[in-house]
Amino acid sequence: MDHATERDRMLLALTGSVKDFTCPTGSDLLERVAPFHAWQQARRDRSLWSYGKATLCDYLQMEHAVLFPTGWAAGYGTIQGLIHADDHVVLDERAHACLQRGARDATRNVHATTHLDTAAVERTLATIRAGDTRNAILVVTESLFSMDSDTPDLRALQDVCHAYRATLLVDVAHDLGATGADGLGAIGRQGMTGRIDLVMGSFSKTFASNGGFVLTRSRAVKEYLMTFASPHVFSNALSPVQAAIVDVALAIVRSPRGAGLRHALAARCTQLRSALTGAGLTCVGNRSPIVPVPIGDEALARLVTRALPARGVIANLVEYPGVPRGTARLRLQLMATHTPGDIRQAADGIIAAFGDGSAELASLME
Ligand SMILES: Cc1ncc(COP(=O)(O)O)c(C=O)c1O
Repeated sequence: MDHATERDRMLLALTGSVKDFTCPTGSDLLERVAPFHAWQQARRDRSLWSYGKATLCDYLQMEHAVLFPTGWAAGYGTIQGLIHADDHVVLDERAHACLQRGARDATRNVHATTHLDTAAVERTLATIRAGDTRNAILVVTESLFSMDSDTPDLRALQDVCHAYRATLLVDVAHDLGATGADGLGAIGRQGMTGRIDLVMGSFSKTFASNGGFVLTRSRAVKEYLMTFASPHVFSNALSPVQAAIVDVALAIVRSPRGAGLRHALAARCTQLRSALTGAGLTCVGNRSPIVPVPIGDEALARLVTRALPARGVIANLVEYPGVPRGTARLRLQLMATHTPGDIRQAADGIIAAFGDGSAELASLME
């Protein structure tokens, strides 16, 4: 390396600040953070960058991981860190609150699209790009929606994103580790492992800990988020105990024991769905660890939920604005360690509580 160039690089490493990179411009969300990485690398090469590592996560073949104290922080921080006021976020209307909040705090250009509607995403991207080729677009969805137990066509979405120079972020909180032969959830099932732009999730479901993460194939994006995603920088990291628990859980998820647990979980989910539908109740969505049981009317839903504990069941009631008005539902979440007996007992309790709630509502209406 010639002397002048090395001197220039040393000067680069000794000057400037992260503030110089807070508003990168350009329509490619992932490429435009490269100058930050070049500056940071100049510092790192000369031992002038003093911040720590995040571990790599090769399970999803994504090369780089940034950890957050919670899944909420990961969803919020990824969007807040990458998106600026003139950028756009295109969100599935049922995306989790952390994604909605991150989008709305980052920009006013938030476009909600009909649930699971790839054609609507494409129309929205076309409209945005017709008027704005300068700024970035982030498309946000989940691999398993927790209120409906359903999944978008991730391959089609990723293709559409690339066609319009947009970036795809998929929240895998609910199916990573829990579904699919290899535990990779919808991403694995759809042959998209390592092919989604950004993957984020939570350790609070399958991984028995608190914490969240975002995965990227770009070192520059990782470094940018580690500096500009506020919940990563300004909230304390996972504790060593939490990190150790996640490590062990991940090892189980990737082992034959994990495959056995997923097999048992899938069997329990099928058992619960058939027991409830056999008694005339409805379960929406596809088989997954989440079993949403629509009740509809909020008054009936509240009475059914109140009746559950006396029937030996504690379950989450979700009502508006968590779901559209008039579509209140029980959101049941199963574990691989539930036994067939547990499932029978839960199904009987839920069916009985529906009877209790309906009878009480009928008598109130008389
Ligand atoms: C889809 C989804 N993303 C993110 C989160 C937030 O994760 P955490 O509970 O770890 O903050 C949740 C809920 O827990 C979730 O359901």
